[in-house]
Amino acid sequence: MINYNTVKAVIFDLDGVLVDTAVYHFQAWHRLAEGLGYSFSLVDNEQLKGVSRIESLELILKWAGAKISDAEKADLLSLKNKWYLELIEQLSPDHLLSGSLDLLEKLQKKGIKIALGSASKNAMGILEKTGIISYFDALIDGNVVQLSKPNPAVFLKGAEALGIEPACCLVLEDAQAGIDAARAAGMQVIGIGQAEHLNGADLVVADLGALVDKF
Ligand code: BG6
Ligand code: MG
Repeated sequence: MINYNTVKAVIFDLDGVLVDTAVYHFQAWHRLAEGLGYSFSLVDNEQLKGVSRIESLELILKWAGAKISDAEKADLLSLKNKWYLELIEQLSPDHLLSGSLDLLEKLQKKGIKIALGSASKNAMGILEKTGIISYFDALIDGNVVQLSKPNPAVFLKGAEALGIEPACCLVLEDAQAGIDAARAAGMQVIGIGQAEHLNGADLVVADLGALVDKF
């Protein structure tokens, strides 16, 4: 159950919550894993959602049983990001997920603060390409916080930047690591997607459109 009356700030995850980019991360990791001779599945991919680029690579290397040098890891990380950037080159407002714009507008109208809490180092470019950057009162991304979800740092930094206590923040997340991070931060959290991948969320909805009338 969510108590909407206490919510003074909403902290949005980016990939798979506001913008339909999770699929491109999957495609790029899939291509990289294939090169290592590992058949990367959608089930594997669930474990990478919300997790930083380097930690995602470490997981894939573990699953593939591959031992490589730090220099080779750095090469693979830039290759994955190159492929990912190629895939999102044409990103536009059309890639906003259902309800994103309506919810951002509603929150702004109601005076509820809006922050980004994303692990991605590409977040700024994505917010610009999709035309929603101006809605945000605080932007916390993978360049600001190195500790990967489920560590709560990214959300706590968001709350701090807004000057709102964690208990009055609501996190919107599509990843299990993000749900765990929000709970560790002492925030309410709504899972976006399928409940089976979002254990511990206070509520799970299919998309942001379901939340517009709550505020
Ligand atoms: C998260 C995604 O938002 O950002 C992960 O869910 C991704 O899949 C992570 O690995 C880091 O993103 P980037 O853009 O810095 O590689
Ligand atoms: Mg996400």
